Amino acid sequence: MFRKAFVYILMLTCTWWITADVAPAADGGKLFIRECGTCHQVGGKVKPINPADKAGVVWAKYFKRDRHPVKLSTIATSDELTSILEYLQQHAADSDSPEAAAIPKG
Ligand code: HEC
Repeated sequence: MFRKAFVYILMLTCTWWITADVAPAADGGKLFIRECGTCHQVGGKVKPINPADKAGVVWAKYFKRDRHPVKLSTIATSDELTSILEYLQQHAADSDSPEAAAIPKG
């Protein structure tokens, strides 16, 4: 009886640990590669883009005003776009850790 309960609690802890491990920022980075990287890649349809291409506030405006040539809402869900924007801002040109090669420029 006690053993069963112990195993159950262990499993719950593991589930929590695994889901907690997927922080929004890391998730946003993966989504960025998956959703934006399909078009934006070396030798792809459009040139690579990276978080460090713009300052944080510029990214926010870019998303808010949907300046993108392809409507952003057709690319990802609004939750996914929120995560992507968070990631872009965390690694923007004016951030503490600018990321200029998430999508390699070749
Ligand atoms: C369906 C293809 C496609 C997808 C997916 C896509 N883009 Fe684009 N993007 C384009 C095209 C086409 C352009 C305009 C051509 C260019 O600037 O190279 C563009 C341009 C841009 C520009 C302007 C680049 C510049 O130098 O001015 C930014 C920034 C951008 N995209 C961000 C994103 C982000 C962020 C995502 C993911 C949420 C994304 N794109 C997903 C096709 C796409």
